[in-house]
Amino acid sequence: MRLRGKKHTIEVLEKQTDLVILEPAKWKGRWHELFGNDRPIHIELGMGKGQFISRMSGNNPEINYLGMDMYDELLRKGSEKARRVWKEKGSDEVPNLFLVRGNVELLGEMFEDGELERIYLNFSDPWPKSKHAKRRLTHPRFLEKYKRALNEKGEIHFKTDSLSLFEFSLNSFSDSLLQMRSISLDLHRDELREDLVLTEYEAKFVGQGKPIYRLEAVIGSEAIRQHRERVASELKASSARAAARQEAGLSADADDDDQA
Ligand SMILES: C[S@@+](CC[C@H](N)C(=O)[O-])C[C@H]1O[C@@H](n2cnc3c(N)ncnc32)[C@H](O)[C@@H]1O
Repeated sequence: MRLRGKKHTIEVLEKQTDLVILEPAKWKGRWHELFGNDRPIHIELGMGKGQFISRMSGNNPEINYLGMDMYDELLRKGSEKARRVWKEKGSDEVPNLFLVRGNVELLGEMFEDGELERIYLNFSDPWPKSKHAKRRLTHPRFLEKYKRALNEKGEIHFKTDSLSLFEFSLNSFSDSLLQMRSISLDLHRDELREDLVLTEYEAKFVGQGKPIYRLEAVIGSEAIRQHRERVASELKASSARAAARQEAGLSADADDDDQA
């Protein structure tokens, strides 16, 4: 087997200016210019080998995607994955995805306030020791960075196999006064459609029969307004159904049974 040295990896990355961004701070405030359109930008922080973000880009050409990780070797693997996904779709180009070398600690140096619309945190390192809590990507100090980078439709989608990280994160989102929704303690039992795209880690854990924990945090003012409107209209529809059943002489509970 041929071993790939660090020098080889960086040379491979440097040649892929159409897909790989090694100095993301240079694009601060200009990411839409880089994509060449005004479509929303969704980013996965800690993309690993890039399976999730590559497939999401292939499935949703109307969205601009970024996959960020700290390690060159992961960016190289991610670039191969992304090109494979688009090749299968008959394209030699990857039109809506850039892979970014960066540390989440420096998010504010890479993105202008409101430049992103969605942040995916997939299977972030759990850092189980309490003395390392500040390194968890759902710590309130990171949530502050995310809030700044997200726009009025901004959301965070978070999934993990770690119960302790999920518990910590629920408290952290709550302490940061973030509205949460679609909380799941076993994602694949609930069959949430949008998340049928699995990450590498997720595929492994699902194969082992482990539950996947997931939540969405609604951050931007417009996202919160739309969420509240949806909840209110669901409540209204449910009340209307209950009233109709009562009028028809059926128990109001029957409506809920029908919906279950
Ligand atoms: C457990 S892996 C998950 C990879 C992928 N999201 C998945 O679900 O398969 C966590 C990834 O986050 C990256 N990571 C951890 N801390 C990071 C940071 N501060 N900035 C950027 N990437 C980070 C690691 O390099 C690693 O690739």
